[in-house]
Amino acid sequence: MTIKNVMVIGAGQMGSGIAQVFAQSGFDVKLNDLSEEALQKGLAHMEKILSRNVEKGRMTEDEKTATLNRVQTTSSLNDASDRDLVIEAVVENMDVKTKVFQQLDQITPKHAILATNTSSLPITDIAAVTDRPDQVIGMHFMNPVPVMKLVEVIRAIQTSDETYATIEEAAKALGKTPVEVNDYPGFVSNRILMPMINEAIYTVYEGVAEPEAIDEVMKLGMNHPMGPLTLADFIGLDTCLYIMEVLYEGFGDSKYRPCPLLKKYVSAGWLGKKSGRGFYVYE
Ligand code: CAA
Ligand code: NAD
Repeated sequence: MTIKNVMVIGAGQMGSGIAQVFAQSGFDVKLNDLSEEALQKGLAHMEKILSRNVEKGRMTEDEKTATLNRVQTTSSLNDASDRDLVIEAVVENMDVKTKVFQQLDQITPKHAILATNTSSLPITDIAAVTDRPDQVIGMHFMNPVPVMKLVEVIRAIQTSDETYATIEEAAKALGKTPVEVNDYPGFVSNRILMPMINEAIYTVYEGVAEPEAIDEVMKLGMNHPMGPLTLADFIGLDTCLYIMEVLYEGFGDSKYRPCPLLKKYVSAGWLGKKSGRGFYVYE
């Protein structure tokens, strides 16, 4: 099957980026969120990134307009009834995601593939709540979506070869590089990245150094584009905590224990860049 049209569920930082790259590559896109306000915020973010592309000469004003014209917004999941592919990018919570998948399974055409952008939750368990587990897959984009080349494509134990091949082709059509991995907690990307971020938070917690110093060490010493605490703020501290909890529960190993300071920040609503405060303060 070749994908022609898609729906993205969740217009947050990932969903708006995913909708943008599909629209830029000529796909017909519907973007869904719970409220008109969330949809407008997602669209405004997309427009800002596209305008920057025009300013930098990477795209013409006409191409920007054509890209935006390929995106329709909707707060009704029922609008998924004519889609070939749906990519879910809602909050990292199993109950919320499984409810969305159960509804999509009822609404979408029989041939449709249901993909999730989850950072860590088990694709096998998400697939199991549908009547088409062979057509469920992880399509894990990296943040910021328009810039990062990787799509980690995660096969649930039930995912068919045909579903995998279709998603691999779709990722390539976006100019991305798909990498195939199997379904274990955190997959490959976050199993390796998130313990590093958690360890950086422990070094703040234990007073080893200030956040600026920790980030400087990793930027200048290891050539990382962002220090781990800046990156944690950028990803969202709530998302980082949910991923650590999945790793801790999934492997039952104390090396994945979320740092108490990370839990405290999330309880305080200090979620990083998106809430205006995390390890740093954002105007
Ligand atoms: N959306 C779209 N484009 C963006 C962007 C955003 N949010 N932020 C930056 N960019 C683009 C800009 O257009 C810019 O290009 P131009 O200057 O030519 O316009 C380019 O990226 C570089 O940006 P900057 O010069 O402002 O800053 P930078 O050189 O520090 O690069 C960065 C920004 C690309 C984000 C870089 O810092 C980086 O690679 N950081 C690490 C990102 C990373 O590790 N992502 C993975 C996170 S983990 C994940 O996603 C998985 C998960 O499940 C949690
Ligand atoms: P976000 O908080 O920026 O956006 C989530 C959006 O989903 C919000 O706009 C919210 O209103 C919407 N939403 C919640 N429940 C919904 C529902 N039932 N139906 C429709 N919309 C709903 O979060 P994000 O950072 O974009 O993360 C989204 C997903 O992508 C998560 O699973 C996360 O783990 C994953 N992810 C995040 C990153 C990252 O760096 N932030 C990277 C890769 C993957």
